[in-house]
Amino acid sequence: MKTYRLALIGFGNVGQGFAQILQERGNWLLELFGVNFEIVAVCTRSRGSLYDPGGLEINALLDSMQSHNSLSGIRALHNDWDALQIAGDSNADVLVEISYTDLETGEPATQTIRRALETGKHVVTANKGPTALHYPELLRIARENGVEIGVEGTVMSGTPALNLGLGSLAGAGVRKIQGILNGTTNYILTQMESGASYADALAQAQEKGYAEADPTADVEAYDAAAKVVILANTLMNLPLTMADINRTGISELTSDDIEQARGAGERWKLIGMVEKQTTSGYVAQVKPTRLPVMHPLASVSGATNAITYTTEVLGDVTLIGPGAGRQETGYGLLADLLAIHRNSG
Ligand SMILES: NC(=O)c1ccc[n+]([C@@H]2O[C@H](COP(=O)([O-])OP(=O)(O)OC[C@H]3O[C@@H](n4cnc5c(N)ncnc54)[C@H](OP(=O)(O)O)[C@@H]3O)[C@@H](O)[C@H]2O)c1
Repeated sequence: MKTYRLALIGFGNVGQGFAQILQERGNWLLELFGVNFEIVAVCTRSRGSLYDPGGLEINALLDSMQSHNSLSGIRALHNDWDALQIAGDSNADVLVEISYTDLETGEPATQTIRRALETGKHVVTANKGPTALHYPELLRIARENGVEIGVEGTVMSGTPALNLGLGSLAGAGVRKIQGILNGTTNYILTQMESGASYADALAQAQEKGYAEADPTADVEAYDAAAKVVILANTLMNLPLTMADINRTGISELTSDDIEQARGAGERWKLIGMVEKQTTSGYVAQVKPTRLPVMHPLASVSGATNAITYTTEVLGDVTLIGPGAGRQETGYGLLADLLAIHRNSG
């Protein structure tokens, strides 16, 4: 049996969803893979920070958050370490970075991840900020220090978009990747197909908790652009940045546009795409695109995500699955942890 000590930076939706998976499936993971995950640290911005090298009770962490949305009543050896100190000085084997995403600076998560890698800890993260802005640098630091960085949860949550590309499709020659990479905008477009105006569809997305009060990152396609950068960096070895993505959101789409597409047997989808050109170079963009209704991506509705890899050997391979959610994204973290465990054997 191998035990991995985990330090969680962030304990919101995804942190708690991940902890629930460990709570519910811990014994099963032990039986199946001989692996045991123990949480030694949990750090939040305003709900407390706990570090105990001997381990923390997952039940107590979840109960405390559920009953009073805080970790303050739980005893631990240290309750004043910040994320950076935990990343550097704790006895964790893996830093699980699931604090908030800042797509302009990637901070403070990037410096936390750097510190963990430099001190010999693996990192798994669902945070798009550090991944979209600094992945090549973070991968280099990981390799220099003999550890791994897993970012599965950053694209399509736990649906294995990255690990499929990095694993099974690695020898197939991926030339082009395109997909519905943002569930909020796909939900809005689906509601517009059913007759809602853009404003009503956005309001419904906000009511359901898909869209933030400030929906800019979704509807202006910054979120999808970050995912295109991550796909290009991780799967196509293209060192693109956010500035390289030609980006158009959905906020200008009208009910008339939807109707016109319908009349032509087509449907609007917000498609993120990166394609290697036959000469050197690439095309990388996110933009509303009219697809024939028979196209595999056209039938993907609601908050679901989908991705098509165009490969030299297999042609098109399409993967459809959830793009968000607490346990769904928590599963992306677990998938990366199991990959680290496999690679260590
Ligand atoms: N939710 C999803 O479906 C989903 C899907 C894919 C990727 N992600 C990514 O996963 C990450 C977590 O998402 P979430 O939905 O769990 O967010 P969330 O519910 O807002 O939780 C964020 C957590 O990070 C903590 N935090 C913020 N700043 C911190 C700091 N400086 N140091 C330590 N902790 C800090 C927060 O503490 P306080 O509560 O005290 O503020 C909170 O515990 C984000 O990067 C998000 O983009 C989420």
